[in-house]
Amino acid sequence: MNLLDGKRVLLGVSGGIAAYKSAELVRLLRAAGALVRVVMTPAASGFVTARTFQALSGEVVRCDWSDDRTGMDHIELARWAERILVAPASADTLACLAHGRADTLLAAICLASEAPLLVAPAMNQAMWRHAATRDNLACLQRRGVQVCGPDTGEQACGEVGPGRMQAPEMLLQALSDSFASGRLAGLKLVITAGPTREAVDPVRFLGNRSSGKMGYAVARAARDAGARVELVSGPVALAAPEGVERVLVESGQEMLDAVLARITACDIFIAAAAVADYRPVAPAAQKIKKQAGEWTLQLEPAPDILATVAALENRPWCVGFAAETEQLELHARKKRMHKGVEMIAANLVGDGLGFDTDDNELLLVWEGGERHLARAPKSRLAVQLVEQIADLYSHSMTTDETPADDAKHSA
Ligand SMILES: Cc1cc2nc3c(=O)[nH]c(=O)nc-3n(C[C@H](O)[C@H](O)[C@H](O)COP(=O)(O)O)c2cc1C
Repeated sequence: MNLLDGKRVLLGVSGGIAAYKSAELVRLLRAAGALVRVVMTPAASGFVTARTFQALSGEVVRCDWSDDRTGMDHIELARWAERILVAPASADTLACLAHGRADTLLAAICLASEAPLLVAPAMNQAMWRHAATRDNLACLQRRGVQVCGPDTGEQACGEVGPGRMQAPEMLLQALSDSFASGRLAGLKLVITAGPTREAVDPVRFLGNRSSGKMGYAVARAARDAGARVELVSGPVALAAPEGVERVLVESGQEMLDAVLARITACDIFIAAAAVADYRPVAPAAQKIKKQAGEWTLQLEPAPDILATVAALENRPWCVGFAAETEQLELHARKKRMHKGVEMIAANLVGDGLGFDTDDNELLLVWEGGERHLARAPKSRLAVQLVEQIADLYSHSMTTDETPADDAKHSA
């Protein structure tokens, strides 16, 4: 399966003949839905121009320190990347990486990034066999760097042997595979996302600012972790993640109905949607006409999806989201107790965080524990959240505690 849809990949290109093949790799990555930014070494620009990568990636290409316009571009890029692939990785760049050098912009980004690093060596077969290169590779592998290739065959220099850069299609697959964790393999997850719309009349509704980005990121992360994911989504401007079954709904009641229709045999339920707390008591059948004077709209509580699922007899392991504007931890703990769920993921809204933003910051609270996830793109937070859920879920399965038992502790 293609797990690259929406993923942020930084492609490093160093100075070798194979650099021309990386242009095709950028094209393949874009076609797979990845967001690609290219950083070249100065030597690489002697083989392929930045303009080629710029046109193919649709992003500014950086080559050397003078391209670091803000002085912090290299740090921003290091944080932005979910994966870094250096292809081709020259003998020189491998040596730089092994020694933790930061003299080229690319090497500095690799050093500053926490993203998993993949390298695709490409060089003359004698350079590849040299003890210095072997040591550098062994050192990188010890640190968890994934080495892709090289292939064996005829080389640009006319020699035959190992040192050809792995084919772009293989590198694409390696990148995609690197996102598959298998932590939730064999499990079924139901996830809600986005806002709800509560009809006032046929043309008006009560809604909220939720974009659905967090819930969709969680759905992708759960899919990447091997789960079968069913996503119940309010109206959003986002495409359905590949490999995820999506159903679109409007109101909180429709969302509840769609969730209940899918909850059988569900292992984990994640309520990331911003469901209305109140809805109009009697939506008008016809458009309400403008009148002079004030107008009062009477509201009633909308269905509480998380509490309803948590109260089911054979219920799944439940995670709720909470958006708060103050006293985050207090409200998160209260909400967890009140709803009787295993975990609450709380975020403060405002100050560029929360609704309709790309970044977020979360506080996860559960029975006897908590974890703060520092401000980061929602896709990265979603991966961390899914890992935490996988840890706690597998722990709850190895102890004899059922979700219902745990809810009793927290009630
Ligand atoms: C025509 C030519 C082809 C080269 N091909 C390779 C290569 O395939 N692999 C490699 O490791 N170095 C190759 N080199 C040498 C690198 O370009 C050189 O070591 C450079 O300093 C690498 O810098 P970088 O690692 O910062 O990109 C080649 C040099 C030339 C002139």
